[in-house]
Amino acid sequence: MATARICVLYVVLSTTLAEDFNLKHKPSTKPVRLFTEEELTRYDGSEEGQPIYMAVKGVVFDVTKGKEFYGKDAPYNALVGKDSTRAVAKMSLDPADLTSDTTGLTEEQLESLDSIFEGTYKAKYPIVGYTASRILTEDGSYNEAFKPEDQPHFQIKDEF
Ligand code: HEM
Repeated sequence: MATARICVLYVVLSTTLAEDFNLKHKPSTKPVRLFTEEELTRYDGSEEGQPIYMAVKGVVFDVTKGKEFYGKDAPYNALVGKDSTRAVAKMSLDPADLTSDTTGLTEEQLESLDSIFEGTYKAKYPIVGYTASRILTEDGSYNEAFKPEDQPHFQIKDEF
C-alpha cells in the first residue's frame, strides 16, 4: 500500500515537473512582440531563471543560451535589457555606446555591425520581437523605413 502511494506521488510529481519543464522550454513558436525600452529592461539577466533579451538594430533576441556572455556578472551583461546596436558596432562597453543610436558610425563599424548581426545574433539566437522605436517614429506614427516583410519571422497579422 505504502509502495502504491509512493508510486502515485512519484507520477503526480514527475508530471507536474515535466509540465513545468515544457512550459519553460517551449520552442519559440509564439508570435514576436513589440518591446518598449522599459519592457526590455526587465530582461537584463539580473533575475536568475528569467530569460535574457537584447536588441540589435531594433530586433530583440533571446540570448538566454549565451548566459556565460550575458548573464548577471558575465562580461557582456551591460549589453542586455536594451538595444545595444552602437556598442556592438564599435565593440565597446562604454555606457555612452549602450544605445540604438548609429549616428556618426564609420563605414567599417557599420559593416562590422552587420556581420555580427547576421553571423552571431541571427545565426545563434531566436528572435522574440522588435523594439517600438524600430517600428514607430518619435511622434508615434509608423516608421516608413520599417518593412515587416523584410524581417525574419515577422508576421504582421500576429502583431497588430
Ligand atoms: C579584450 C577584449 C575582448 C576579448 C578578449 C573578447 C573575447 C571574446 C570571445 C573569446 C568571445 C567568444 C567567441 C565564441 O565563443 O563564440 C567573444 C564574443 C563576443 N564579444 Fe568579445 N571580447 C572582448 C571585448 C569585447 C567588447 C568590448 C565587446 C563589446 C560589445 C565584445 C562583444 C562580444 C560579443 C557581442 C560577442 C558574441 C557573444 C555571443 O556569441 O553571443 N567583446 N569575445
